[in-house]
Amino acid sequence: MIPVCRLEDLPAGESVRIDTTPPIAVFNADGELYAIDDTCSHQDASLSEGWLEGCLVECPLHAASFDLRTGQPTCLPARRPVRTHEVVVADGVIHVRPAAQEDTAA
Ligand code: FES
Repeated sequence: MIPVCRLEDLPAGESVRIDTTPPIAVFNADGELYAIDDTCSHQDASLSEGWLEGCLVECPLHAASFDLRTGQPTCLPARRPVRTHEVVVADGVIHVRPAAQEDTAA
């Protein structure tokens, strides 16, 4: 489990990137926390810099959008999903449990 930040440091509508390999983006979507791979599956944009809309994040580079719950793209140009990761809050601190590396097959 990787500590991310205190819960109050990630208010609704915000995101944070953690420097794992590969990097992971953590989002607070209207109070629900989600973690997905930070790197867009289309090219190399950082999804933590994208725009949150409900449970979707829009890539800042070419506007593909991903469902934070599943990692699935909801529109082109992205075709492959990004991985999702478990988020746990313990003692007021957000933690991420990175998914196993092998579930990247599209
Ligand atoms: S890099 Fe994300 S849509 Fe192109």
